[in-house]
Amino acid sequence: MASDAGIDIESLLSEARSFAPPDDFVAHANVHGRAEYDALCKRAADDPEAFWGECARNLDWFAPFSKVLDWQFPFAKWFIGGKINAAYNCLDRHLKGPRRNKAAIIWEGEPGDSRVLTYQMLADEVARAANALKELGVKDGDRVAIYMPLVPEAAIAMLACARIGAIHSVVFGGFSAEALADRIIDAEAKVCITADGGWRRGAHVDLKANVDEALAKCPSVEKTLVVRRVGSDIKMKSGRDVWWHEIVPRQSAQCAAAELDSTHPLYTLYTSGTTGKPKGVLHTIGGYLTHTLMTMKWVFDLKDDDIYWCTADIGWVTGHSYTVYGPLAAGATVLMYEGAPNHPENDRFWRLIEKYRVSIFYTAPTAIRTFIKWGDSWVKKHDLSSLRLLGSVGEPINPEAWMWYRKTIGADRCPIVDTWWQTETGGIMISPVPGAIPTKPGSATRPLPGVAAEVVTREGKPVEAGQGGMLVVRRPWPGMLSTIFRDPDRYKSSYFSQIEGCYFTGDGARRDADGYFWIMGRVDDVINVSGHRLGTMEIESALVSHATVAEAACVGRPDEMKGQAVVAFVTLEGGRHGDDKLKEELRKHVVKEIGALARPEEIRFTEALPKTRSGKIMRRLLRQIASGDETLGDTSTLEDLSVLARLRDDEE
Ligand code: WT7
Repeated sequence: MASDAGIDIESLLSEARSFAPPDDFVAHANVHGRAEYDALCKRAADDPEAFWGECARNLDWFAPFSKVLDWQFPFAKWFIGGKINAAYNCLDRHLKGPRRNKAAIIWEGEPGDSRVLTYQMLADEVARAANALKELGVKDGDRVAIYMPLVPEAAIAMLACARIGAIHSVVFGGFSAEALADRIIDAEAKVCITADGGWRRGAHVDLKANVDEALAKCPSVEKTLVVRRVGSDIKMKSGRDVWWHEIVPRQSAQCAAAELDSTHPLYTLYTSGTTGKPKGVLHTIGGYLTHTLMTMKWVFDLKDDDIYWCTADIGWVTGHSYTVYGPLAAGATVLMYEGAPNHPENDRFWRLIEKYRVSIFYTAPTAIRTFIKWGDSWVKKHDLSSLRLLGSVGEPINPEAWMWYRKTIGADRCPIVDTWWQTETGGIMISPVPGAIPTKPGSATRPLPGVAAEVVTREGKPVEAGQGGMLVVRRPWPGMLSTIFRDPDRYKSSYFSQIEGCYFTGDGARRDADGYFWIMGRVDDVINVSGHRLGTMEIESALVSHATVAEAACVGRPDEMKGQAVVAFVTLEGGRHGDDKLKEELRKHVVKEIGALARPEEIRFTEALPKTRSGKIMRRLLRQIASGDETLGDTSTLEDLSVLARLRDDEE
């Protein structure tokens, strides 16, 4: 089976290290010990609906649900009849007790400025922002695009939408004007919330300039709401652009939370698929909030006195589920940091952990590998003894990085939760429950209670222990996407058409003799760069949109730092000859069209792409070439790759 992750299965198989949860951790854990964990799993397996119903009752409902699940394959509706509001659950319900004056968000900007918002202060800000959105004409069901740096207003904007039943669509601030426009057009957003800019490595990211460029193509957007963050000189279009500080502070801090159906959409978030444009993954309130809240308790073992830090940007699902909705629904204190990990120096993250006494730290393998490269001395300068739990997400973590994380950051003391999930799953699906499950470096361990994950063949048959296969989920779960925005057919064909009766994740995995899952990465044409999924199609279309390019094929190559790096094979128009200057121009073009993440690490010009007789590009062969597979010989000067294809035609 093809694995894009470049994981060596043999070396994983030989991974014999195992770390039991420390006794003092178990003693205080939310799920303490194996027996309690097993009982939880058994209850969930015996009667999933009763189990998830019980979980959902941890939320505040305006009206109780009368039915837990309505499952019309492959469409699930959770908590039918229930009336709920996500912002109410993240804010108002904490105001009734001692959490009212607890810090909800501790924020630090890249230049070192900081703000603390208690639950009461955050609730007031969200209400004002919600009233401002109403003034701008936003109504229940309208889409609002959010294109912002990681400032408190980003979370406030999301919660303000949730409060009035508007559907937010956050677009990562690192995406280009083009990518922003595509997403706004698909969602038909009415309002776009942005900032004059954000800070990144001491420089401004000109978000508003990108918005101006994008909106030239987006007639649906009537108003923009602009936060002043960096104080740069930007153009405000009269009649369209409104300053946040001119409209929000003068609003009332009273804004009743809309009493919405549990199945009302909460947000869309665009993610890459194998073909065509990005998909608007749609999440609905009741199910999503149940899943994110429960996983805060099970996986992050959240307690009221924790300082919790998830380093993900708000533009990714991790920022949605585990910086905003999950932790705030659980009443946590969340640390948010705006900028780069190496500003002003390589120890910024450790400085933040020491300064704010962070106890739970959640980051990505790509960041961990970067820290290893920077060297231990940056870590050693700081007191990290406040940490008690570490998390990883976004891609498979290699055992070496895992061991470094445990020893150097966790002082051999903190459990690591390697959490497998996806934009589509809404919340964590496979992960150790840290007070119950011994961990093994490189394994996400076991599916959470109520999650029916399995490894199967393409025919849907379970594979034996140790065998690779397709990672599927057999039963619906509350956080699952409800559909692809305005494209139910694509929802069906993307997730429910490959393996009969199951949700197919797109990932390969194997399960060891202890029932632990080892994720092997994507099996399709998706590249995972620094924990972010990029569709090869999108990068290829960007390349082909350049005047000189005839055809392009992109694949991932294992990369020590980024997990995978983009390698582009390009044929040029009219037999044109490529040179380094053109390579640089094409790289710039991709950055402009999609964003810096998609920048091809390597570009190879070829006279023809290797194709099968039926015309399918032989990606597996390209992957082998890109990763320098020695069995192919030296292909670096081979100008016509279709020659290689003819030798291999029957394989693909
Ligand atoms: C893909 C989902 C989940 C938030 C960030 C990415 C890979 C994610 C792990 C992990 C191995 C992982 C998978 C998955 N992935 N977490 N712990 N171990 N692989 O969200 O952009 O929707 O990407 O990321 O390949 O399918 P996403």
